[in-house]
Amino acid sequence: MRLGFKARKRASAREKSAAIRQALGERNVVLIGLMGAGKTAVGRRLAQRLGLPFVDADREIERAAGQSVDDIFAEHGEEHFRDGERKVIGRLLDGGPKVLATGGGAYMDARTRRNVEKKGISVWLKADLDVLLERVKRRDNRPLLKTGDSKEVMRKLMDERYPIYAKADVAVQSRNVAHDTIVGEIVNALHETLLKRQGPKAD
Ligand code: S3P
Repeated sequence: MRLGFKARKRASAREKSAAIRQALGERNVVLIGLMGAGKTAVGRRLAQRLGLPFVDADREIERAAGQSVDDIFAEHGEEHFRDGERKVIGRLLDGGPKVLATGGGAYMDARTRRNVEKKGISVWLKADLDVLLERVKRRDNRPLLKTGDSKEVMRKLMDERYPIYAKADVAVQSRNVAHDTIVGEIVNALHETLLKRQGPKAD
């Protein structure tokens, strides 16, 4: 039986996901990027598309600490949070494959970065300042944004972090389009990086 256009498209998407899962082996897809880039929202849908579990590192840190990220910062300080973040992400990277969304500062830690390189494929969700600001103002749970004017804080973080985020294996522009569009672009980029760049196999 001949498949219609939509059915062919679905079948090809399924094949692509299966190929990515196979190429990943036990490695994780690790989403990085600034606050508001959409790591959690996109990550959850990406995991569904790839047929992998989804884990949000900040939620795991909160679970391990029995406290919100906001409270950890307020009661114990940023350094304490970063130590916990490194440990929790280290543990999560060992249990792959999965899609892992990380907090905006996680990839700035050199040890975490090396760990991600070894045990994952990093995907940078890159976004412009205006897009990020519009999204972060919807919630009041980000301790770093309480340290000053949000726009100034975000601009400074972009200056410090974007050169480091640029080391990621894959970069996709996050913008105000349907999440599924971004997910599709990530899937294509992962496919390209994991499969096409391997080149022909030697006999
Ligand atoms: C942080 C980002 C937050 C959270 C913490 C610190 C950062 O996560 O980990 O508030 O340093 O950029 P999101 O990027 O998910 O908001």
